[in-house]
Amino acid sequence: MADYALQLERVSLHYGGVAAVDELSLTVADGEALAVIGPNGAGKSSLVNLISGARRPGGGRIVLFGEDITALPAAERARLGVGRTHQIPRPFARMTVRENLRLAARYARGEHSLASIEERCEQILQRCGLAEVAEVMAGSLPLLRRKRLELARALALRPRLLLMDELGAGLIDSEIRALIGLVLQLKREVNSIVLIEHVMDVVSACCERTAVLAAGKLLSVGATRTVLDDPAVAAAYLGQAAAARRAHSGKLPSANGASPATRAPPATRAPPAAPAAAPPAAAPPAGSRTAPLLSLSAVAVHYGGVRALRGVDLQVHAGEVVALLGANGAGKTTLANAVSGTVPLQAGAIRFEDQPLAGLPPERISARGVSHCMEGRRVFASLSVEENLLLALPRAARAQRRRRLEAAYELFPALAQQRRKSGTAMSGGQQQMLAIARALMAEPKLILFDEISLGLAPIVIEQLYRALARIRERGIAMLLVEQDVERGLQLADRAYVLVHGAVRLSGVPAAIRDSPVLRELYVGT
Ligand SMILES: Nc1ncnc2c1ncn2[C@@H]1O[C@H](COP(=O)(O)OP(=O)(O)OP(=O)(O)O)[C@@H](O)[C@H]1O
Ligand SMILES: [Mg+2]
Repeated sequence: MADYALQLERVSLHYGGVAAVDELSLTVADGEALAVIGPNGAGKSSLVNLISGARRPGGGRIVLFGEDITALPAAERARLGVGRTHQIPRPFARMTVRENLRLAARYARGEHSLASIEERCEQILQRCGLAEVAEVMAGSLPLLRRKRLELARALALRPRLLLMDELGAGLIDSEIRALIGLVLQLKREVNSIVLIEHVMDVVSACCERTAVLAAGKLLSVGATRTVLDDPAVAAAYLGQAAAARRAHSGKLPSANGASPATRAPPATRAPPAAPAAAPPAAAPPAGSRTAPLLSLSAVAVHYGGVRALRGVDLQVHAGEVVALLGANGAGKTTLANAVSGTVPLQAGAIRFEDQPLAGLPPERISARGVSHCMEGRRVFASLSVEENLLLALPRAARAQRRRRLEAAYELFPALAQQRRKSGTAMSGGQQQMLAIARALMAEPKLILFDEISLGLAPIVIEQLYRALARIRERGIAMLLVEQDVERGLQLADRAYVLVHGAVRLSGVPAAIRDSPVLRELYVGT
């Protein structure tokens, strides 16, 4: 029956004793874009693995455009038109971006000459914003570029059914709008799309229907707006976001995406009654005469000929939360890496507790009390979840290790349940939880959080931010890279805005919020 692009009939996927997908039945109509949302670990990426053939179902049937593909290997499904992206990108690291694309293009449906492959690769490179890095090794791309490459590789297959696993995570508003525009365009080119996303603006702008998964089962499916307003979905997934959503429901982006995308879920924004972020008593006001905990002066970092940071002056005082804002590519990750010692400085100085940091190896910097929770996670597959956490405390006494583990598990109960598993045998969001918990384990004086909410469900982000407020009360300072500006500003005592590697603006949240610089950057003018 060709009215359906995809029919899943009671499909299951087990990992050991756990049902990641549990006798799930779901259809995607030909011509439809279906969103799949749900808590971290709900089974969304597992579903993509089943459809793409990366994993075989323990039971059930998968039908693509009327053809039973349950027994077909992934490569065959790719030839039949199933294209997918990976939530945690997996390009061939030692091939260039173009070579990665070419390889995917060879699997594409239909006839293709070498010349046509080259031409198509070139078009896709342009379209996905990868032309300038076409000859760069894929392994050296920053995370968000690797994600674009995931999409480019999927497109090179000329898919009929496109499976997109969390492309919106880590993007700022203007980039989210570009993503929405791209998905809307792709809708006209591919038959059907399955879109997995924690960014509700993308869901509501692009998908007519939404399915909600929880614990491997279908919690509900229906018209996107109805589903997002469902109290059960709010309880399992959206959290307060849902309440604010209902309050704002007149202002949702329209289905054609023409209206400006507010950062979704709109609910993750400050509830109107929330007090403006006031500096805690512990944090000295900006410009106070106590020496800052961390101080960067005239810092410059170059990668080859590219200037990633120039003339950056920045301070973080003891106990202070500083938000670092800016578009992707503005230099935020580079700045965090420079502080933690993973990229060398071209010029300038970094001092921590009034001692020079620059030039020290990362492990010495971390021993001084600086933790770095990185974008891209660095979770070790050969270690269990618990061993990954304990890496942060190499020399601690047993009682202390136990106490810190308990605190980590209290913050993220999902980790406690899976403590004996390999650190990478978890969902994308759960791996992010592990990376955050590990950074906290060391009880550092300063934590560098790079894209802390990446891949986390809205309700988990709310819990996390409540936890960060408590952690701040213990006097731990934070440098917070966060794409959700309002969320970052609510927690922060001060903020810096980076534009093309330089500080364009800094100050208290109220001043930053009102600045045209920020508006231009995030909303686009
Ligand atoms: N390789 C693996 N080995 C063992 N268990 C796994 C593996 N990958 C995922 N799981 C488990 O399967 C369940 C579903 O995971 P899945 O990755 O499908 O979730 P998800 O809905 O994509 O979550 P997220 O929003 O965090 O990406 C979770 O309990 C997870 O811990
Ligand atoms: Mg996932």
